[in-house]
Amino acid sequence: MANFSGSHLLFFSFIIATGTLSVVSGTVFTIVNSCSFNVWPGVLTGNGAQLNDGGFLLTPGASVDLTAPAGWSGRIWGRTGCNFDGSGAGRCLTGDCGNKLKCAGAGGVPPVTLAEFTIGNGGGQDFYDVSLVDGYNVQMGITTRDGSGDCQNVGCVSDLNGSCPNELRVMDGGNVVACKSACAAFNKPEYCCTGAFDKPETCPPTDYSRIFKAACPKAYSYAYDDASSTFTCTNANYSVVFCPRS
Ligand SMILES: *[C@@H]1O[C@H](CO)[C@@H](O)[C@H](O)[C@H]1NC(C)=O
Ligand SMILES: *[C@@H]1O[C@H](CO)[C@@H](O)[C@H](O)[C@H]1NC(C)=O
Repeated sequence: MANFSGSHLLFFSFIIATGTLSVVSGTVFTIVNSCSFNVWPGVLTGNGAQLNDGGFLLTPGASVDLTAPAGWSGRIWGRTGCNFDGSGAGRCLTGDCGNKLKCAGAGGVPPVTLAEFTIGNGGGQDFYDVSLVDGYNVQMGITTRDGSGDCQNVGCVSDLNGSCPNELRVMDGGNVVACKSACAAFNKPEYCCTGAFDKPETCPPTDYSRIFKAACPKAYSYAYDDASSTFTCTNANYSVVFCPRS
């Protein structure tokens, strides 16, 4: 039992004795589905604990609280058009994480709209953004609660499926269900910011990234989008909303 060293025992006794559970309470992400259709959020942890087994169902109007420990980093996305059986096996039209309800360490297949977070350690600044670098599949917004600092509400509130150029569209029947990034669609250095285009100075916006930026001004439209797409807030809780109303 090497994990339970004396100092750990002392620490936990201290918490129990004083009731100072706030020390380990963490950052709350309230995941809200304001869409008129089911969304199956996926959560991929970069650093720290896995949250809610990495995947679950949110019916229209439903919300779920996830609590992340200090120093947590990861991304949250929405899966659409899923069919799972009772054992959690199945697949999604967009954002699928390997034919299962609980992504448990697997990421979503692009194109997906991503909410990305790096939570501060010990009361430090959090960093967050909404990214379309891997394409777009559902409207998403991040709002902050009770934090201090610049703490802006960000995201992508217009339906990019509608304004997606033909050559980037992902279709299901007659419907546009997602919009690929130009990098994924054409795999060219000028869209992927690789090769001679591997620096912010040499990878300017393209006609494609401008379409993404126009629809979602406060989201990353391509790999070297301007720094104004990352936001900071200190000691906040967050709501991650699918299909935010404004
Ligand atoms: C975009 O996708 C959403 C959800 O998948 C759907 O409700 C909406 O109608 C689509 N928009 C277009 C223009 O097809
Ligand atoms: C975040 O939510 C938790 C649980 O509701 C609460 O205890 C905590 O005070 C909240 N933090 C902030 C900064 O509001």
